[in-house]
Amino acid sequence: MPEPVVVAVDQGTTGTTVCVLDRDARVVGRAHADVAASYPRPGWVEQDPERLWRGVVDTVAAALAAGGRRATDIGAVGITNQRETTVLWDRRTGEPVHPAIVWQDRRTAAACEKLAAAGHGPAVAERTGLVLDPYFSGTKIAWILDADPELRRRAGRGELAFGTVDSWLVWRLTGGRRHVTDVTNASRTMLLDLATATWSAPMAELLDVPAELLAEVRPSSEVYAETDPAAFLGVAVPVAAAVGDQQAALFAQACVEAGQAKNTYGTGSFVLLNTGPTPPPPSREGALLRTVAFQLAGEPAHYALEGAVLATGAAVQWLRDGLGVIGSAAETAGLAASLDGNDGVYFVPALAGLGAPHWDARARGTLVGLTRGTGRAHLARAVLESIAYRTRDIAVAMSATGTPVTELRADGGAAANPWLMQFQADILGVPVDVPDNLETTALGSGYLAGLATGFFPDRAALAALRRTATRYEPRMPTAERDRLYADWLRALDRSRGWSRD
Ligand code: G3P
Repeated sequence: MPEPVVVAVDQGTTGTTVCVLDRDARVVGRAHADVAASYPRPGWVEQDPERLWRGVVDTVAAALAAGGRRATDIGAVGITNQRETTVLWDRRTGEPVHPAIVWQDRRTAAACEKLAAAGHGPAVAERTGLVLDPYFSGTKIAWILDADPELRRRAGRGELAFGTVDSWLVWRLTGGRRHVTDVTNASRTMLLDLATATWSAPMAELLDVPAELLAEVRPSSEVYAETDPAAFLGVAVPVAAAVGDQQAALFAQACVEAGQAKNTYGTGSFVLLNTGPTPPPPSREGALLRTVAFQLAGEPAHYALEGAVLATGAAVQWLRDGLGVIGSAAETAGLAASLDGNDGVYFVPALAGLGAPHWDARARGTLVGLTRGTGRAHLARAVLESIAYRTRDIAVAMSATGTPVTELRADGGAAANPWLMQFQADILGVPVDVPDNLETTALGSGYLAGLATGFFPDRAALAALRRTATRYEPRMPTAERDRLYADWLRALDRSRGWSRD
């Protein structure tokens, strides 16, 4: 009888990664597949929900094969996912009724501004922990229903379901038997009352979202149902976790106690600071998000403060795929190191507006300080530096709440870039600690699924598995750090409010 395994699915913005974990939480099989997005208009980003689902099944099959395992070996499935991305489907057929509107999509900027102008910002922040920005699901749902009156009528009759990607995948995995969402994903919709962790009727009314669309809110670690063999590789196995990808990373980075922070460098960068089992008070001007960190079955929810930076790795991709000035992301480290300094060239990665703590949906990417001597090394360096400055923006806002970041646990693709990690430590003035396994998002969902099924004994045992691979100590003199950051703030100013759309 082969040893059972946990299958950890990470359905992210640019790709789906699946890790197969054994009882010692070692990755014994892995597969990855890219995910396409379309950009039908400036500021719009869509994905095909059907392809997201099929990609998940295919990638699970590939990861099992890579590890020499079979579907019948699966002890539990855990899901983590790109958050906020909005899927609407027909409850009867399970077919999507609109393309998924991806979290980066800015089409509801005007709707958010209207709500802000009507003075709703403070109450929304108080209730949901979020800011009035197109990033979150609520205004995206309303946009879909407003664009097609027939869909709004059908939603009111209870014929349609809304889900973030966790909810969509659980629906499909279970053959439509469960319409659930985990509490961390629900906390990104702008429809959840943060303090009670239940849907907020006043928010649904304000955003004009029919309650009939909503899923049951459940803990992040719990057996929701078994998979439908007809839908999932011929097996009925427990679906035992769902969790937003940033929260999954927080969990796998063992930031399970109040005061511990991590940054995941992906398409964007997301700094989460665990604040414990009660929601933190709203931050000054609501600049940081308050969100659910995780909830284990039968336990209270844990909360986090979050600094969401909407585009960072996306800017490196743009250098590679949009401009063609680099062949691979890894090249940026050497290019940046080839210069003694930035020569006054700054890039602001406001490719999807600016997230925390600035929240400006109309900001756009900006490159300043160019001279005839500016080359591709300057571009690469400016992009890497911008990732570090945006993290300092967040650290400054966190300090203002009275919870300074004293060490940053880093993961995600760019945590493998040694030049960036050293510069990050230098610009923050605190150590940056990189673990041996950078796929913390997948690990987190696997851990939570394993806890729900008794595959892993407890949280403490999982936290003890984290190993530091490299620790970067700050070595830049304070005066230089402050000079660079002051110029960054000048560049940032120039990106603000640019788009008229
Ligand atoms: O909030 C958006 C975040 O969950 C997306 O993460 O890793 O898919 O870029 P990622």
